[in-house]
Amino acid sequence: MNYIVKNRKAYDKWAQTYDDWNNPHILMEHNSVLELVNPNKWEKILDAWCWTWKYSIEFFNIGADVVWCDFSEEMIMKAKLKKDKINYDIVDLSKKLPYKNWEFDKINCSQVLKHIDNINIPISEFFRVLKKWWTFTFSVTHPDRPREMYKFRKQMNFNLVIESDIFHHRFFDYIEAINSIWFKINKIKQICLNEDAKKLIEEDDYNKMVWRPEIIIFNLIK
Ligand SMILES: C[S@@+](CC[C@H](N)C(=O)[O-])C[C@H]1O[C@@H](n2cnc3c(N)ncnc32)[C@H](O)[C@@H]1O
Repeated sequence: MNYIVKNRKAYDKWAQTYDDWNNPHILMEHNSVLELVNPNKWEKILDAWCWTWKYSIEFFNIGADVVWCDFSEEMIMKAKLKKDKINYDIVDLSKKLPYKNWEFDKINCSQVLKHIDNINIPISEFFRVLKKWWTFTFSVTHPDRPREMYKFRKQMNFNLVIESDIFHHRFFDYIEAINSIWFKINKIKQICLNEDAKKLIEEDDYNKMVWRPEIIIFNLIK
């Protein structure tokens, strides 16, 4: 099965129970992503692959002109129940984006690039649709993170690692993709396992793994 079809099925399935479970990475990175995106009123922001509209709603509440997209129709159905005023598109990130050159002031893409085998495609597409001098922010699981997994206090009834294809891009893969398209790195932020994740992870595992790098966020300028 093509990996895009497999991953879409996985996220369609996860959409049914996603909101019942807290993802530590999403919790841990939240404030840092918002700080780096720095959304403002009237800015046109693409929230690329935003799951159940978490960041989109926050951008919208600030007064930004938000466009939200995802390839999972089930995610979209769930998201629409929360906020039906935001414009959305069904888009596959592994292909050319359906947006004009220089259309957006800012782009956010959190925790998605691990599902794309060739990251040069989305990164060069983000470059194309972003206005010059404006910013693109993306977060990914830290490439230096050890594969050893912690146990959750509350088990999820969905296993993303089994249900979907995940590509383990290296730090240098991101740097190469960024350099190949003339993006400039404005800021890089690393996030370690922290207090925000503590209540979700079994205590012994947390104590053993605390302060290991979990997430990296890149903030780029065109
Ligand atoms: C791990 S979630 C991250 C969601 C959100 N950005 C956040 O930080 O909470 C990954 C999201 O990417 C979407 N996704 C995965 N592969 C995709 C692809 N090839 N094209 C479009 N969306 C994709 C999934 O449907 C899901 O909503």
